[in-house]
Amino acid sequence: MMTATLTEIREAILPPTGDVLLRFLRDAYYGQQGEHTTDAYPAEIALKARQLGLIGQGEKRHTLTNQGYIVGNVAKEYCNWVDHGRNMPTPKPPQSMIEGKDVLDLGCSFGRWLWEFQRTAHSVVGLELQPEYVELGSALARCEGIEPPTIHNSGVENLDKFIKPDSIDFVFSRLVFNHVDIQVTLPKVAAVMRKGGTIWIQVETFRGAIRRIFEGELRVRSRVLGAFAFCNSVGCMLTGRQMSLPVKGRMHARHRIAYPTLGWWKRSLKKLGIEEFKLEDDDGGNATFSARKVR
Ligand SMILES: C[S@@+](CC[C@H](N)C(=O)[O-])C[C@H]1O[C@@H](n2cnc3c(N)ncnc32)[C@H](O)[C@@H]1O
Repeated sequence: MMTATLTEIREAILPPTGDVLLRFLRDAYYGQQGEHTTDAYPAEIALKARQLGLIGQGEKRHTLTNQGYIVGNVAKEYCNWVDHGRNMPTPKPPQSMIEGKDVLDLGCSFGRWLWEFQRTAHSVVGLELQPEYVELGSALARCEGIEPPTIHNSGVENLDKFIKPDSIDFVFSRLVFNHVDIQVTLPKVAAVMRKGGTIWIQVETFRGAIRRIFEGELRVRSRVLGAFAFCNSVGCMLTGRQMSLPVKGRMHARHRIAYPTLGWWKRSLKKLGIEEFKLEDDDGGNATFSARKVR
């Protein structure tokens, strides 16, 4: 169903009225967390969203369907980016890491970082698991008058199928690595990097995740998933392996979340010849680090 209506959704988010629909979906997305309301939107926008199967039938509040949640996620990120003057959030890699370089973004969502990188990079390419993000991203790029960057619809675990060895100067990955099969992916990252190349990775830290899981006001399901994440993080650090759970739901079919410590990331990268580990930012929940391939 998602594939059958993606073309219609792509059409619906284009100018001149697409902007209002995207904002409606953003607010419906936040509305599910009680932060925004969609009450002020014209009835025809809610009707359009309903006809596209993005919100449920006959409900008073505008509840996103599974499909609507996926599109709402993109709408949220895109509208927030527009509202912030089309600037990416900090921390950002310095221009010297991008300019003239061959850049790879792992888990690039709809490609907004690539839009920025391609202004000065020699080449850019992304990998993204969620096909809808890739499709909607190319429509949004066109709305912005931007050439859509190449994004391969694939798990980052398969990056070697798309990217040649020794071909990348800069690997960027933001808020993705906690969700992937790290043991499979990291050696592949090292293999596609040129000697002297840099990685820039943002992850949720072990400390931040534990605090959120055990101190927050979480529902039972979140606590169970939190306990799984804790065991998986410890298991990953001790054995290099992650367990994975099948999950019913909106996005990824398997849940293999793990939050290794920064020390673990540093040691694991070093084993692959990626050294000069530098902590670029740590806000207590997410940390960003860079490192260079030295051999
Ligand atoms: C929190 S979002 C971050 C998106 C983007 N990096 C950014 O900073 O805006 C995580 C992204 O990783 C993608 N993702 C999760 N697991 C993945 C995997 N195994 N391979 C590729 N992408 C994945 C998700 O679909 C989603 O787009």
